[in-house]
Amino acid sequence: MCGIVGYVGKKISIQKSLIDNLKALEYRGYDSSGIAYVLDNKVNIVKKAGRISNLEENIKEDIVSNLGIAHTRWATHGDATDINSHPHKVGKVTIVHNGIIENYLELKSKLIKEGYTFQSATDTEVACALLDYLKKQNNNNNLEVIKEFQTYIEGSYALGIIFDDDLETLYATKNDSPLIIGLGKEENLIASDVSAITNFTKKYVIIDNKEIIKLSKDKVLFYNNKLQEITKDISEVNWNIDNQDKCGYDHYMLKEINEEPLVFRNTLNDFLNVDDFLTKMPNLNKYNKIHIVACGSAMHAGLIGKYIMENDANIEVLVEVASEYRYKKVFYDEKTLVILISQSGETADTIASLRKAKADGIDTLGIVNVVSSTIAREVDHILYIKAGVEVAVATTKAYLLQVLMLILLNLKLQYDRDLITKDKLQELLLDLKKTPNYLQELITDEKKYSAIAKKIYQDEDIFFIGRGIDYAIGMEGSLKLKEISYIHSEAYQAGELKHGTISLISDKTKVIAIITDKDIYLKTISNIKEVKARGAYVILITIDDLINDFEFANEIIKVKDINKYINPLLAIIPLQLISYEVAKLRNCDIDKPRNLAKSVTVE
Ligand code: G6P
Repeated sequence: MCGIVGYVGKKISIQKSLIDNLKALEYRGYDSSGIAYVLDNKVNIVKKAGRISNLEENIKEDIVSNLGIAHTRWATHGDATDINSHPHKVGKVTIVHNGIIENYLELKSKLIKEGYTFQSATDTEVACALLDYLKKQNNNNNLEVIKEFQTYIEGSYALGIIFDDDLETLYATKNDSPLIIGLGKEENLIASDVSAITNFTKKYVIIDNKEIIKLSKDKVLFYNNKLQEITKDISEVNWNIDNQDKCGYDHYMLKEINEEPLVFRNTLNDFLNVDDFLTKMPNLNKYNKIHIVACGSAMHAGLIGKYIMENDANIEVLVEVASEYRYKKVFYDEKTLVILISQSGETADTIASLRKAKADGIDTLGIVNVVSSTIAREVDHILYIKAGVEVAVATTKAYLLQVLMLILLNLKLQYDRDLITKDKLQELLLDLKKTPNYLQELITDEKKYSAIAKKIYQDEDIFFIGRGIDYAIGMEGSLKLKEISYIHSEAYQAGELKHGTISLISDKTKVIAIITDKDIYLKTISNIKEVKARGAYVILITIDDLINDFEFANEIIKVKDINKYINPLLAIIPLQLISYEVAKLRNCDIDKPRNLAKSVTVE
């Protein structure tokens, strides 16, 4: 959600230094883009609503420059129009901005009194005007200008800044929005995350709040908010950048579903040996309550975690969406563990929930994909899933691995609570090792999913039902379908349907039912029969050999019956692939659904 990049170095094509890097941030979701580059001693700006390709059409191919900034915007203040797009230039200052300036209206009216006029509806143009105003007061020192700027601003920002009087230098600063610096040879970069710098360098520095950075071709200087020079740790990207290629698949989403067996193996490998497992997992002895806090699919993974932990580890688990948790009255104490789940590690509401728990002295644990992201750095204990780069906005492989990590945590909880022996633990870990083969079999079964997709892609309402863990799986199935195909869908606890929603079921209404839980399957079957009796067209996803009479279902997809942990993991695959096939039939922009962002860095 909003991405910034910047380059200072040799004179190279702006396609290479800015646009290609910007494309690496497309996964964050955006609705307009723009660049500012230095040419003939002045700052030139091109910005356009729509995809980056719109921007490219408006840029001459052969422009070279040694310094520039670029931006993908996800509209918050003002529509997605050319004029609201970044960069913004006011007076002698040009900026790109990720974040939200909360007090921008107050600042705007003060600046209007100082004679400023505004072209756009954005908070960013106000920030830019403030920098220009402070620059006029403090003419020669751009670092002082940024330092003073910080004292006026309430809200979040990552900023790339060009001052007209210093066109060889790129300035940057941040507060609560991510920013990294890429360190190259005779070239240095800024970006929202490392995926946008790997074309140039693998060395990067993570910027902390209120730090100010001055980048030139040969030097990067880091300052704290008192303008004292500081030294920063240098990290190295250790993942394969080829991950960002579609590898022949039509869409990243399909590629990422196909990677699920591999990334499952990669993540599980670290924990297969019981002694390694016990070293790597935190000690969960002292806890008698767990809060799982996350957004979107990560929250749905948390729901699966809740069902298995409550059942097996006999511990109370509350699952809450982060945008609620951060503002609600929370009942926790020193025996509560707060688990934050986030693919990106940068979701604003999840970060705020983490900080709330920490401020109250509560232990925190993160399940995160992106190494060194904000959540990964701030939690007391981190467990990384190894999904690699996930480009499609709709998560698939990261979600599956979040569920895997919760299964592993559940095993550790059981062990720490003396509910299973070390031998049993080892046996259960080795059982999980078989999962990738079953996942692979299901993924290969492509035709089945496209046949079902053909039956449902013209519908406008689809219902998912299940009980317990199967309801949790249905929640994710429903979200996947609606976010990429724009079909309205809802997930219901199967038994709750008759308290209102069943009135929406009529002739040929599509209902996708999920049954993997053997303890309660007969109850769900009764609910399926209820919708069938009202004309519903039922698609059942279940496990082998559980049900023999299928009269109540119009379509059936069966996954192997392995055990209570693996079965739900398997049921996820058909749901992801059916959603994919439906979105394809509806000609949707599968990897970048409208209005959505991969990483939601504003609240
Ligand atoms: C966005 C994405 C979802 C994701 C959610 C949480 O809405 O589109 O796919 O589940 O954010 O993101 P996180 O990075 O915290 O897992």
